[in-house]
Amino acid sequence: MDLSSRPPSPARPAEFSGSPAAGTRWWRDAVIYQVYVRSFADADGDGVGDLAGIRSRLPYLAALGVDALWITPFYESPMVDGGYDVTDYRSVDPTFGTLADAVELIEEAHRLGLRVIVDIVPNHTSDQHVWFQEALAAGVSGPARERYVFRPGRGASGELPPNDWESVFGGPAWTRLPDGQWYLHLFAPQQPDLNWEHPDVRAEFDDVLRFWLDLGADGFRIDVAHGMVKAAGLPDVGDAPQSRLLGRGKVPYFDQDGVHDIHRGWRRLLALGPGERIGVAEAWAPSLDRLANYVRPDELHQVFNFDYMRTDWDAAELRSVIEKSLASTGPVGAPTTWVLSNHDVQRHVTRYGGDELGRRRARAAALLTLALPGSAYVYQGEELGLPEVLDIPAELLTDPQLESLKGGRDGCRVPLPWSGNEPPFGFGSGGGWLPSPPEWKSLTVEAQWDDEASTLTLYRRALRIRRDHSALGDGELHWLDGPPDCLVFERSGHSDGPRMLCAVNTGDRSVQIPARGSLLLSSEPIRMEGPNAVLPPDTAAWWSTEPSEEPDTGG
Ligand code: NOJ
Repeated sequence: MDLSSRPPSPARPAEFSGSPAAGTRWWRDAVIYQVYVRSFADADGDGVGDLAGIRSRLPYLAALGVDALWITPFYESPMVDGGYDVTDYRSVDPTFGTLADAVELIEEAHRLGLRVIVDIVPNHTSDQHVWFQEALAAGVSGPARERYVFRPGRGASGELPPNDWESVFGGPAWTRLPDGQWYLHLFAPQQPDLNWEHPDVRAEFDDVLRFWLDLGADGFRIDVAHGMVKAAGLPDVGDAPQSRLLGRGKVPYFDQDGVHDIHRGWRRLLALGPGERIGVAEAWAPSLDRLANYVRPDELHQVFNFDYMRTDWDAAELRSVIEKSLASTGPVGAPTTWVLSNHDVQRHVTRYGGDELGRRRARAAALLTLALPGSAYVYQGEELGLPEVLDIPAELLTDPQLESLKGGRDGCRVPLPWSGNEPPFGFGSGGGWLPSPPEWKSLTVEAQWDDEASTLTLYRRALRIRRDHSALGDGELHWLDGPPDCLVFERSGHSDGPRMLCAVNTGDRSVQIPARGSLLLSSEPIRMEGPNAVLPPDTAAWWSTEPSEEPDTGG
């Protein structure tokens, strides 16, 4: 089977023809596939994924049925943090290809009806970036230092960091130079934070955005979108460990009100078109309401919903986070996003219990996620049911977050298994940059493509139904009463067309659901008992129902 030449799924809506036309609001319910470039597909066989590799697999993504891809940073970088340490925002790192490859990739994606979102990293650069090198050379009072956050230290001879801020990757957020000054890095020391009060910084990023828009990018995933502005005077946090506060508490270096000005500016830039280009915030805030500020009508289009991602496999908790998510984005008129995994967290098959249990729950979670109103993200490999790799030999681990996050993030970044019976399963010729577990033989794209029972087939079917069924995607959700440990809801789109009933059993016993309409899809086989469907443990199912079949709107 040659998946690279597989024909794409049915043509996209007519309004999408290479350069997206205005007015589709495609992003309100798009399914966006996250490509971690290093680990997706390797065209030149060096064991590291590349842009030509992505291009060769675009037919796979089109056939899978997603609407867009978000590609993690592929710019020139020393790769201290997997490319989130950029030296040149207008280039492609030679490991990943050339600028011409990027242009061809975008154009080819558009031909196949796929949009392309690129990742932009505005909070920090690499320490090898020309600006930081200039800052180092400039000396203590050189103006080139003003583009970053340099400060004298505290203590009798400045031997203590300027404040108590901690890096997200662990340890102090400040590093001292031989000349005595300290610079701020909220992540690795090789990722100095930019000073967003400096006009050069704003102008530079406007220009970088325009550069990629001109090359056809359909939008940006904005890294650390909550981090660019720091509280005036850089006050101490005064509470430790700060890692406990990240994403939950208030800290003076994240989610400051001033950051929204930057996003408003970018929204204006995106609005210049042509087409509908979007901004997606990777932002963490102490509450869902504060998070919704990033998607007010004059700001970005989407923000990742990490609260949903962090919720356990538990019906009551899931219902609560779904309700809160919809209630927070609704008032600002933005779509909610639904994320189960990404390149920074343990894969959800493993989070949900691992092995067959985890995979079974992950399949049900996929149907839940794709049935919710809004836009959904699929992290590469989740459509294959890949688990986290927990036994990568220590000497091969590369993640700078290794210290602060037990095991680090390499385990969710293992190269994708495409085909064949032996590692690296069609990724590279010798071996991937991280070793693939031999048992992934049964999880390759090739092994799953024609297997009726595979997770890949489940995703393909779900995505096809989601595209065709008018009740899915954007629209309303009504909760229905259901047995304990179950989520039951009905979806309706914006018209009076058919509705969709989704039931999810997160418990460990079979339950009976009064079934209506016709079964569209289930994550495990289900059987009927009289008028009821018997939903086994950790199973989800979709039915198509008619509007006349009035829902019981209890619950
Ligand atoms: C968030 C990215 O997703 C992560 O991979 C990276 O390490 C940090 N931002 C720093 O850029």
